[in-house]
Amino acid sequence: MAVVVTSNGNAPAFEAKMTVYVFVCVMIAAFGGLIFGYDIGISGGVTAMDDFLKEFFPAVWEKKKHVHENNYCKYDNQFLQLFTSSLYLAALVASFFASATCSKLGRKPTMQFASIFFLIGVGLTAGAVNLVMLIIGRILLGFGVGFGNQAVPLFLSEIAPAHLRGGLNIIFQLMVTIGILIANIVNYFTATVHPYGWRIALGGAGIPAVILLFGSLIIIETPTSLIERNKNEEGKEALRKIRGVENINDEYETIVHACDIASQVKDPYRKLLKPASRPPFIIGMLLQLFQQFTGINAIMFYAPVLFQTVGFGSDAALLSAVVTGTINVLSTFVGIYLVDKTGRRFLLLQSSVHMLICQLIIGIILAKDLGTTGTLGKPQALVVVIFVCVYVMGFAWSWGPLGWLIPSETFPLETRSAGFAVAVSCNMFFTFVIAQAFLSMLCGMRSGIFFFFSAWIIVMGLFAMFFIPETKGVAIDDMRERVWKPHWFWKRYMLAEDDHHDLEKRTD
Ligand code: BGC
Repeated sequence: MAVVVTSNGNAPAFEAKMTVYVFVCVMIAAFGGLIFGYDIGISGGVTAMDDFLKEFFPAVWEKKKHVHENNYCKYDNQFLQLFTSSLYLAALVASFFASATCSKLGRKPTMQFASIFFLIGVGLTAGAVNLVMLIIGRILLGFGVGFGNQAVPLFLSEIAPAHLRGGLNIIFQLMVTIGILIANIVNYFTATVHPYGWRIALGGAGIPAVILLFGSLIIIETPTSLIERNKNEEGKEALRKIRGVENINDEYETIVHACDIASQVKDPYRKLLKPASRPPFIIGMLLQLFQQFTGINAIMFYAPVLFQTVGFGSDAALLSAVVTGTINVLSTFVGIYLVDKTGRRFLLLQSSVHMLICQLIIGIILAKDLGTTGTLGKPQALVVVIFVCVYVMGFAWSWGPLGWLIPSETFPLETRSAGFAVAVSCNMFFTFVIAQAFLSMLCGMRSGIFFFFSAWIIVMGLFAMFFIPETKGVAIDDMRERVWKPHWFWKRYMLAEDDHHDLEKRTD
């Protein structure tokens, strides 16, 4: 059934059906997310495996055997952490190259490049016989992440009908969470396979990489990307195919109009610095800072220790990973369901209050009851574990997926690829910062770290309240008119641009 969607109650949006074809394309592309999630999840497990350390970091392994840990100061080694975070640094750089291939060659080839990088990276890391091979493999995986995370969310946002865009885009995050969960389970089992369990763990990423490679041969290129590269007829055909309706003219015209404007922009990065680009640019970058400073990766990392304290013994690591990982996956469905109904703002605001309460309770209990080397009483530990789970829920339906969705849907076409590349690299940068600094911060700040993240959550909640507009249901190439121009704060930059155009016309 075709639906005419009216967003915000004013101008009618475009006619579109949810077609099986779109769904298949979305699922295939989202495998890029699964590989990203698998990479996030697998490194922690592999770097804890003695066989792996003995082979590549013998000095670290020697030291680890003699180190005495306390509750807050776990054994920490910057070189080992650098192994984990080298992937994010490579991805940070790669997203700029990916932005160029996304605009010049299309979203689809960029995904194909991603899967090739992934496959070579998996081969080198899983088959590594020395540190150089391992690190080069890690860097190539990082390139895969940079290319995949650039192309997939853009692809999803462009291919989705406006009224379902949020939900379809969040399938990317859903696959990230599934990747993390699978990696945690794989880690647990391969840790007992000696001496090459780590090779199996690292090699596992090859399966989704192959699926992405073959899948990306059959998916469609987005109409926007085709029209942007002057393939108008193909673009129109693609639009008809994905929308499943005959009447696609209005949407086609909007895309052509967006492409006309985009074609006048020679240097998208320069354009990004212009006042009119400021709203999506500032929001896109800050969302990444905020997403990482919710403390999600820190909490996920700390979960095994908490679960151990509550008395799950040696199975604590698996259990905590499976419990938090499953909650993470399931709660993402809540995001998929709600994002196009309640909108993005509701989820951001609700979860800020929700996550703040969790962080404060965890912080207070740990500050009061957990000594440096002692353990928590069982009742307190149980409360902490419950609030860790509730916290993960809140993140999974808000700042997690929206950190990817909002920057992929708010830039006008002329700066979409470049703007999103900056957002992706900011995400990688802040993930790197947290991965690199967390253990030292925990050791120095102890339970104070939870108050540190709480303060950030207050800041991001206030920012969302005043500065992040609702984009639910607005067509992706219509944001300027429908979202930025009417916004109480951001409109000043849009008006400045209009004045500038007027002035240019008058002087012509
Ligand atoms: C974030 C990751 C995080 C994951 C957790 C993603 O959106 O970018 O850093 O580990 O969500 O599910």
